[in-house]
Amino acid sequence: MDFMGKIAVITGGASGLGRASALKFASGGAKVAIFDIDDEKGESVIKECMNKGTKGLFIHCDVTSETEVVEAYSQVVSTFGAVDILHINTGIIDKVTFVSELSFDDWKKVINVNLNGAFLTAKYGISQMLNQDKGVIVFTGSNWAYVCDPGFTSYAASKGGVVAFARALALDHAKDNIRINVICPGNMVTPLLERQLSLEDDPEAVLESMGQISTPEEVANLVAFLASDESSAMKGSAVIIDQGETLGYGHGLRVER
Ligand SMILES: NC(=O)c1ccc[n+]([C@@H]2O[C@H](COP(=O)([O-])OP(=O)(O)OC[C@H]3O[C@@H](n4cnc5c(N)ncnc54)[C@H](O)[C@@H]3O)[C@@H](O)[C@H]2O)c1
Repeated sequence: MDFMGKIAVITGGASGLGRASALKFASGGAKVAIFDIDDEKGESVIKECMNKGTKGLFIHCDVTSETEVVEAYSQVVSTFGAVDILHINTGIIDKVTFVSELSFDDWKKVINVNLNGAFLTAKYGISQMLNQDKGVIVFTGSNWAYVCDPGFTSYAASKGGVVAFARALALDHAKDNIRINVICPGNMVTPLLERQLSLEDDPEAVLESMGQISTPEEVANLVAFLASDESSAMKGSAVIIDQGETLGYGHGLRVER
């Protein structure tokens, strides 16, 4: 896809889907900025982007810090001049347990990164897009906004929030030439999934039970489509991309009560 001349910001771009999305935009000629807390991996992804012949910028940015988010956008605009494409993708799972055993702090940690982080990066990204009179945003939600496995309430609630937030935001800015959609991936082979599997007694068996799993590159193809003019008719869509998992194919991760 052609993203020549565009500037793309990817949050959580140091790993997994964010990395695949950064590389996809770079392959299309976009200049890429990554906001992430993992400096080493973030710098390395930016190197991979630059090896594709484009420009890149890693910015250490914790998406839960308003000061850091404001500063990060300011660096992007002073370096590249605009934010044309914004992939709001940062997400964590953290504690997997039943609500009666989940501390309020653990609940808030997930909501803070996944939902408050989405709010902050959207708020200041949109402010810049309003200055430019254009922009496109793709949020990463999850199919767990709709279906779930036991013990994932904080994650499911945060992702349900991201989906509803993205759709409400799409309405707010439909007339501002800012197009917003949200993707809802199922299981993808990324460090996030690998971390969850490593907590299982028999990771191989759980993996086997999960059915077909997407690569981050397959999902990044959808991100790129939604960020491109090819999807100009799409506003406020929540697009499930999960190998049919929500149809009941694959059991997913399990915790025992
Ligand atoms: N992997 C899956 O199976 C799956 C399925 C559905 C949805 N998702 C969603 O896809 C998105 C990407 O996940 P992934 O699987 O690539 O995970 P990942 O762990 O590989 O990457 C997440 C990135 O976010 C960064 N990050 C975490 N906290 C941050 C913070 N406070 N500020 C800035 N950066 C922060 C991490 O450093 C990491 O680089 C997430 O929103 C996740 O919820 C993943």
